[in-house]
Amino acid sequence: METIYKVEELKKLFPVKRRGIFERTRRYIHAVDEVSFNINKGETFGIVGESGCGKTTLARMLLRLEEPTSGKIFFKGQDITSVDRQELKNLRKKMQMIFQDPYSSLDPRKTIYNLVAEPLKVHKVVQDGTREEKVKETLALVDLPTTEEFLGKVPDELSGGQRQRIGIARALILGAEFIVADEPVSMLDASVKAGITSLMIDLKQRIGLTYVFITHEIGLAYYTCDRIAVMYLGKIVELGNAEEVIRKPLHPYTQLLMEAIPPLQPDEQWGKTITERGELPLFDEPPKGCRFHPRCPAAKDPCSMDEPELKEITQGHHVACLESW
Ligand SMILES: Nc1ncnc2c1ncn2[C@@H]1O[C@H](COP(=O)(O)OP(=O)(O)OP(=O)(O)O)[C@@H](O)[C@H]1O
Ligand SMILES: [Mg+2]
Repeated sequence: METIYKVEELKKLFPVKRRGIFERTRRYIHAVDEVSFNINKGETFGIVGESGCGKTTLARMLLRLEEPTSGKIFFKGQDITSVDRQELKNLRKKMQMIFQDPYSSLDPRKTIYNLVAEPLKVHKVVQDGTREEKVKETLALVDLPTTEEFLGKVPDELSGGQRQRIGIARALILGAEFIVADEPVSMLDASVKAGITSLMIDLKQRIGLTYVFITHEIGLAYYTCDRIAVMYLGKIVELGNAEEVIRKPLHPYTQLLMEAIPPLQPDEQWGKTITERGELPLFDEPPKGCRFHPRCPAAKDPCSMDEPELKEITQGHHVACLESW
């Protein structure tokens, strides 16, 4: 399998506002804390975890929309951690983001034509005369109308699902191969969700895309992802084949997440929700040892002292838990 993307010990710290003028030491939120993984060409790599665990920060760093504090990012073998702006602009043709909110991510004053043509203008890749053709071709790819009437509309005249299709068209029009989708369907109605999800799966096969698919819904990850990484407070706690991780989770945190979702089979039981074990704590300095230990039902004494590394337990299935090894 060909590795298209690789990150090594990627880290992002956000400084916390000082509580007062007498506070000497600078404190940081460890939004993403030394995360490493490979993404294979053609796969859908899921990132799951609760709100605030660092999914968006990680996603933005993958595309260099957010500068990492430390660590390295490789795209097709090239170290892109510190490439200059011009090189980054070139790379952006190949790697794009689909945003969570189809309402705020589109400029409400622009027409559909201008929104979809915008990347072509910015990157000056298509001659003026053939721009319209390219826009229509891309709209057809995402199953949207290509009529003059539709091209002249503004985002307010579109449904949420149509707007998200515009977001996808904008991501694809330059010929991207690597797409980071940050909760692409979480703000859509259930019926529309399925349509957008299947469009994304279909596009992946038709044009050979590689996805990073971020979701807080582990059930959605089951249907869309080949492999998943489960994040907790900035760290990956479990990584492996999506079906295996979801059906046989090894990390107590993944197990709790699993209990919180609707049954995958009609005969499986609804469980307790993860929030019954408390909300995701807001630590600027994460807890010592395993950062999940204060909420972990299986925690033992060593868990509060030693930080577990992500270890391969069975082929391709990694877990960071002293208890599971
Ligand atoms: N620009 C920023 N400045 C300071 N702190 C930030 C910034 N962006 C994110 N954070 C903090 O970093 C942590 C991770 O945030 P992030 O948005 O990456 O989480 P998330 O997993 O995407 O959450 P959600 O599911 O709610 O989208 C949070 O504690 C958040 O408050
Ligand atoms: Mg987010």
